[in-house]
Amino acid sequence: MSEGSEPVLRTDGLLKRFGGVTAVDGCGFEVMRDSMTGLIGPNGSGKTTTFDLITGFQRPDKGTIYFEDNRIDGDRPYRIARNGLGRTFQITRVFPQMTVLENLLVGATGTELRSAAARALHLLDLVGLSDLRDEFCSRLSFGQQKLVEMARIHMRPQKLVLLDEPFAGVNPTLTEKLVAYIEKLRGEGTTYLIIDHEMKLIMRICDRILVLDQGKLLTEGSPEEVQTNSQVLSSYFGDK
Ligand SMILES: Nc1ncnc2c1ncn2[C@@H]1O[C@H](COP(=O)(O)OP(=O)(O)O)[C@@H](O)[C@H]1O
Ligand SMILES: [Mg+2]
Repeated sequence: MSEGSEPVLRTDGLLKRFGGVTAVDGCGFEVMRDSMTGLIGPNGSGKTTTFDLITGFQRPDKGTIYFEDNRIDGDRPYRIARNGLGRTFQITRVFPQMTVLENLLVGATGTELRSAAARALHLLDLVGLSDLRDEFCSRLSFGQQKLVEMARIHMRPQKLVLLDEPFAGVNPTLTEKLVAYIEKLRGEGTTYLIIDHEMKLIMRICDRILVLDQGKLLTEGSPEEVQTNSQVLSSYFGDK
């Protein structure tokens, strides 16, 4: 799908401090509709905090966030989620005592059970978990739990989904499956903002990349532009 020319998300001057630590330090960026945008940066550079600010899990000290035409900074997480802005967490959150299918149905508030079940079965098929639908989530591998979480997010129509390190700790085969799954859902009209450490992978699957360093937007651009940016290289590899 070609990248849209209008932003689905805009942030400006975002600032978040935790005591003496400035986790996000004046960040401003846009995520274009229909894009697959990567958010990269060294450990502790403020990536997860940026997601927390966008999804209402943390309130910014300063700055604005627009999702489509609505200003959402400081809104409650459920209100933001209800309008089609979903996320996954760095530490996967599934309900271990529930089956795979039940985990998906939990994500379907407000829909009729029958259509929710149909949607769930479609998504399980898409991620290749149909055979495990009645298995308890506690019995799944870490990677399979990530697939469940990813499928659950899409039980509701999503305009923008933020993925926090979806490939961390996932083996290469399953990573490729996840990528294929994300690309399919992107084809159904979801925009993605993805955090990951694996630069090579992000460079391959994203069409636009934002680079954070110490809470600041170091640079942004196409994978080619970012890959050759000397500041990015030294921030990633300079002192390692
Ligand atoms: N809830 C919190 N309380 C205190 N410090 C935090 C909290 N969340 C994040 N930080 C600090 O903010 C900085 C950025 O963290 P984070 O956003 O998790 O970075 P990243 O996701 O890029 O690794 C780090 O120094 C981290 O220790
Ligand atoms: Mg993080």
